[in-house]
Amino acid sequence: MMRKIFSGLLAATVLFSCCNSQVDADFGKVIPLPARIEYEGDGSFVIKERTRVVYDSEDSAMARNADFLAGYIRDGAGLDVRKAPDRKAGKSITLDIDTLIANEEGYILTVGKKGIEIRGGSAKGVFYGIQTLRKALPASTEVRCRVAVPYVRITDEPRFGYRGLHLDVARHYFPVEFVKKYIDLMALHNMNTFHWHLTDDQGWRIEIRQYPELTAKGSVRKETMVRKNVNEFDGTPYGGYYTQDEIRDIVKYAADRNITVIPEIDLPGHMVAALACFPELGCTGGPYEVAGKWGIMPDILCAGNDGSFEFLENVFDEITGLFPSEYIHIGGDEAPRTRWEACPKCQARIKAENLKDDDASSAEDKLQSYFMTRIEDYLKTKGRKIIGWDEILKGGVSQSATIMSWRGTEGGRDAARLGHDVIMTPRNYMYFDYYQTADTSDEPLAIGGCVPLEKVYSFDPELPDLTPEEHKHILGIQANLWTEYISTPEYAEYMVLPRAAALSEIQWVRPENKDWDSFTERLGSFVRFYDAGGYNYARHLLGK
Ligand code: ACM
Ligand code: ZN
Repeated sequence: MMRKIFSGLLAATVLFSCCNSQVDADFGKVIPLPARIEYEGDGSFVIKERTRVVYDSEDSAMARNADFLAGYIRDGAGLDVRKAPDRKAGKSITLDIDTLIANEEGYILTVGKKGIEIRGGSAKGVFYGIQTLRKALPASTEVRCRVAVPYVRITDEPRFGYRGLHLDVARHYFPVEFVKKYIDLMALHNMNTFHWHLTDDQGWRIEIRQYPELTAKGSVRKETMVRKNVNEFDGTPYGGYYTQDEIRDIVKYAADRNITVIPEIDLPGHMVAALACFPELGCTGGPYEVAGKWGIMPDILCAGNDGSFEFLENVFDEITGLFPSEYIHIGGDEAPRTRWEACPKCQARIKAENLKDDDASSAEDKLQSYFMTRIEDYLKTKGRKIIGWDEILKGGVSQSATIMSWRGTEGGRDAARLGHDVIMTPRNYMYFDYYQTADTSDEPLAIGGCVPLEKVYSFDPELPDLTPEEHKHILGIQANLWTEYISTPEYAEYMVLPRAAALSEIQWVRPENKDWDSFTERLGSFVRFYDAGGYNYARHLLGK
């Protein structure tokens, strides 16, 4: 297998770096693989210096598409194409919307005598058609070279409407420039949802104007545990946060690339950074410190204190102003019940709300359901829906909540049966903070586990025990990057790449077109985009 990928890489090198005058575009090397590629004869259309890109200049999304395409051709082939809004005549690359294409992210790309035409179900579909064309081109060259694009008809659409990647910026803060680079890599892989984990026990990373303490104090921990030694600390303060201007800038940067940013404010657990600022919101009253070690903390928001809800409503007023996403992620994972069991206020709430133990759940489990539902109801008044981790199923949660299944696929299965929408992110396949090889002797420290590229590729959320109707609730797949041990951009890239390529293929490609050998062969060539983008990536399967 390694040899096969390596020879693909050599072929790509020959193909793409010796271009003194003309190179061939190759749609057979694209990741994720388009649904249908039909070659039409032996001819080709040659993209040259000053080839025109024709589009509707009244439509700002199409103008942006034209800009992206021109940029990719410049970066990949050193050619400056001409943007020629609205001009239809002559040979050109034409971008258009076709309302007959049912899927708004679908597209048809045709190459023939008249040139290249990319028609999309919407401007989003055109964007993905452009991505496919881009990925058939060289990735970078010092030399100007014309590109011969074979006559072809490509018909394509994604398997799933939700194609996510997550980044935890609480355990380690990542600079704005890196977050944009991460969004770029998502776009390269046709992903459309960035799940941004912004707050946790070890740091609050988003400016909230009403509560400046959250970033002044809650974003800084006084020290961090060393490797996995729970009793050893580095003695160095660590912090960082995003201003609201930076958040808006990132949300726009993502939207321009058809990526929705879903913010996560994890509650009622994983809140110690906020409790350090507002100890009265904890059951014991504190004092609390922003956590310097990893793990599950017993201190969570007090569910008996109305102040907890007032605080969260004020936070979400600002969050919903910054993030236009339909969904807001409100966490719900890993919230121990110990403090609630001992807290008079929480117990009084249990009594007042008539929450009772039953065979499946404790009164405290139901108190968490009460907590999540109260926040969901508030967000509903702002027209938003919630996503929560699969723990929120325990004790019951309203059917309108979308469940993120992370402890396995069982939570997702149960949720789909109950009529919830589901996003699959099972840790044994989709946790990119896990090691990517069984032999960890040469690997940087990771949290544990083992999720090699092949394991990612093997995941299919089509569970045999769900009916077709229940399957409709599975909106898509996401991988998560928790960053306890991932402290730099280079390390984050190493953990995500090339696993993101395998992820993109299971998010986009229908199961009947999935093929591991074809994927790994294409990957050998595809990594040229990682090289061109300056990404660090793992090479276990790449023979280099
Ligand atoms: C999680 O990994 N705690 C969602
Ligand atoms: Zn309490």
